[in-house]
Amino acid sequence: MSTSLLFVCLGNICRSPTAEAVFRARAAALGLDARTDSAGTGDWHVGKPPYGPAAAAAAARGYDLSSLRARQVQPEDFHGFDLIVAMDADNRAALEALRPAGAGTPVRLMLDHLPGHAGQPVPDPYFTRDFEGALDLVEAAADALARQLLGAQNSSTASPKSL
Ligand code: 4NP
Repeated sequence: MSTSLLFVCLGNICRSPTAEAVFRARAAALGLDARTDSAGTGDWHVGKPPYGPAAAAAAARGYDLSSLRARQVQPEDFHGFDLIVAMDADNRAALEALRPAGAGTPVRLMLDHLPGHAGQPVPDPYFTRDFEGALDLVEAAADALARQLLGAQNSSTASPKSL
């Protein structure tokens, strides 16, 4: 059974495209069957490629963001994905405000999946300029999340909702 994940940040040009590419690489390495996408809660950068310094930092670690283009998250995304992963609490609040009535798709923070970091944000490198620190967190959380989902895929009782 395939799992689908949507990674969400504010602009969809730094953190969430990075998370999408890093998670996709981790999932492939682990043999996890997953479909991934990313989106922003804001619309400023719709149609634009990832931010140059973020793409360059990711490329230096082997992640290719070049084909990604920013889009804004839509209410329908709650029906298109099994799990929505927000980079910070503001993103999560914006997502909850978009949630269609009756949609049960969980929205989690990226770092909720990283032991010892639950509830914490991925600091936005567009403002902090710490692209390496953001990548370190995203890599660790993506690896932990992929392993949790792999466990769920291999179990008859667990699902993204129970993570
Ligand atoms: P992101 O970073 O949410 O990680 O993509 C941002 C990039 C640009 C802006 C905000 C956040 N902006 O306001 O232009």
